[in-house]
Amino acid sequence: MVHLVAIDDEVSILDFIEQVLARPDLCISRASDPNEGWELIRRLRPQIVTLDQSMPGVSGMELLARIVDLDPTIDVVLLTADDSTDLAVEAIRQGASDFLTKPITPSLLREKLDLLIVSAQRRDRATALQQELLETTKFGDMVGQSPPMLDVFALIRRIAPHFRSCLVTGATGTGKELVARALHQMSLVRNKPFVVCNCAAIVETLFESELFGHVRGSFTGATVDRAGLFEAADGGTLFLDEIGEVPLKMQAKFLRALQNGEVQRVGSNAVRRVNVRVVAATNRDLRAMVKQKDFREDLYYRLSMLEIPLPVLADRKEDLPLLERHFLAQFSRQLDKEVRGLSRRAQTVLSRYSWPGNIRELENVIGHACTMTDRDIIDVADLPAYVRTKAPLDESRARMTLADVESRHVRYVYEQAGGNKQLTAEILGVSRATLYRYLGENGMKDLS
Ligand SMILES: Nc1ncnc2c1ncn2[C@@H]1O[C@H](COP(=O)(O)OP(=O)(O)OP(=O)(O)O)[C@@H](O)[C@H]1O
Ligand SMILES: [Mg+2]
Repeated sequence: MVHLVAIDDEVSILDFIEQVLARPDLCISRASDPNEGWELIRRLRPQIVTLDQSMPGVSGMELLARIVDLDPTIDVVLLTADDSTDLAVEAIRQGASDFLTKPITPSLLREKLDLLIVSAQRRDRATALQQELLETTKFGDMVGQSPPMLDVFALIRRIAPHFRSCLVTGATGTGKELVARALHQMSLVRNKPFVVCNCAAIVETLFESELFGHVRGSFTGATVDRAGLFEAADGGTLFLDEIGEVPLKMQAKFLRALQNGEVQRVGSNAVRRVNVRVVAATNRDLRAMVKQKDFREDLYYRLSMLEIPLPVLADRKEDLPLLERHFLAQFSRQLDKEVRGLSRRAQTVLSRYSWPGNIRELENVIGHACTMTDRDIIDVADLPAYVRTKAPLDESRARMTLADVESRHVRYVYEQAGGNKQLTAEILGVSRATLYRYLGENGMKDLS
């Protein structure tokens, strides 16, 4: 059921709207006074509002600003008395979805509103589906439904029960640690320890003792016998994060531990046997490091026999809606604040951004927005400025033809006009028919 609130000081217009739009899946509420209309909107949270531009007391534009501020997902159609393109452009810029110039014909009203009603229904269904999908597309603590992520999930499922060592590669924030945890969770040793070692955080001189342990008196400060991380992980999984940072002279000892399960505490001759599965992760190019002689070739081959490469977020933007929903739910819980969703504009901004920091960056952005917003919907203004303003890097631009520039500009204006073709055509100074022909001839049928 879609709710529509009609606000107009002319009762005859309200009657007209009610008559023309009557359909069983639409519920229309009406107000002939702007303040009364505002109360209705706050109480009913309709998906669609038709709003008269000139009313005594509060102007349509003022009310429009309030509605957009309350909930940017509401589609507002402004009814204007005079044929003023400027006003319409301004209304769209302020967040209106469309405008109609009085006198309004029944067919035009029906044409415009039917589209909005259908899209409101589709949105409701999409939200419900996404919620369902979120449940079914969870893999451990990971979500994803894009082909590259499904490949990653399949690989984890296949490897997890049997692997001895495995390398997870990917840029910063792509989820390497989550993959390591999933590999442990889906193994038969899930009840045994999962030990994390961040190789980049260990001082070089303490490396050996951290990983393999030491005996009392083996160096200044070694006052007691101590087991290293390999022993701590015995029976379970050791996660060696940032494996590229392991000092070259330690790498031989690593290989021995991996290959034979043998470790020796610093200062002791006794060889201990451990049964440890190792997941190593890095965002560095180990192959290049091998060439530079910064990483041992034998250790590299041992680790990379089973490699799980993670895609960057820019290559799987179809996962954005799911991830957004996942992080919204997470921060709603954490901040004890009910945040229902993102406005379409905010989603568009996020989908245009290049995400150099990948999922961690997305998580931070959603966290920031949830903290900033004082409503239950996140809009563009709640997003950090650098995401809003930073246009994606575009190296291809220097090679663009004039035709490319033209079609890009058309797309840009179309998006700025909120998908309104009449307005797009007016701004571009062409007729609606010309615009349609252009879209058809230039492979932009998705817009028409
Ligand atoms: N598929 C996913 N679904 C949900 N959350 C994810 C996913 N991938 C990563 N995250 C989240 O993104 C953040 C970064 O993930 P993680 O720490 O695993 O990345 P990383 O590759 O180890 O990054 P770095 O190289 O910087 O250490 C974490 O908070 C993690 O929970
Ligand atoms: Mg990490």
